[in-house]
Amino acid sequence: MAGAAQQPLPVVVLISGHGSNLEAIIEATRCGELPVDIRAVISNRPDAPGLTISRRAGIETVVIDHTCHADRAGFDATLQTSIDAFEPGLVILAGFMRILTPGFVNHYRGQLINIHPSLLPEFPGLNTHQRVIDAGREVTGATVHFVTAETDGGPAFLQARVAVRRDDSAETLAARVLRQEHRLYPQAIHQLAAGRVALATGDQVTLDGVPLETVPVLDTGA
Ligand code: GAR
Repeated sequence: MAGAAQQPLPVVVLISGHGSNLEAIIEATRCGELPVDIRAVISNRPDAPGLTISRRAGIETVVIDHTCHADRAGFDATLQTSIDAFEPGLVILAGFMRILTPGFVNHYRGQLINIHPSLLPEFPGLNTHQRVIDAGREVTGATVHFVTAETDGGPAFLQARVAVRRDDSAETLAARVLRQEHRLYPQAIHQLAAGRVALATGDQVTLDGVPLETVPVLDTGA
């Protein structure tokens, strides 16, 4: 007898820009590869191109303009109220370019993830690809991690590697890394939706109940 179908995990996705990672998540969901229910997409920028992707997919779309809030705490409080109204089990940062307050981050502990275009803990922050090139690195990549109060510093649980070419500009490298992000993020979210990955005490990540000692790397062939 077949077992009961797995209930999709309710998620909310936060964006600030192009939304290509959002699009990859929507596509994986539409194709039945990702058991999530995208309840809403929230942008802090009214002109984010990713909003069009979200609306076209028929997903509820919310704009919370950070420039209309006096301070970070006020913005985060409004954001939190909006997110919680959708009762998500997971909040996905997909190119959401705002530093979040510790109170906000702690509220979603273990249920808030981010993707960053480097092999964290190396190269957190902005202008990642140019800094990778300037440092003469031969390999870079992308990391999915739980969000903690330290920017781009939370525990990682899946990475993808990308070779740096000698003639790469920040733009060509960013484009190749982004293509791998589109494979990486849906797979990382799948692990959470399937209950395989979790954040335990002491910021320890577990995979299938076992503490993760090293961050697994997707074979990207890149
Ligand atoms: C992605 O490369 C993502 O890793 C990065 O912003 C881009 C968003 O692209 N995020 C960060 O740098 C977070 N620190 P997208 O809007 O097309 O998904």
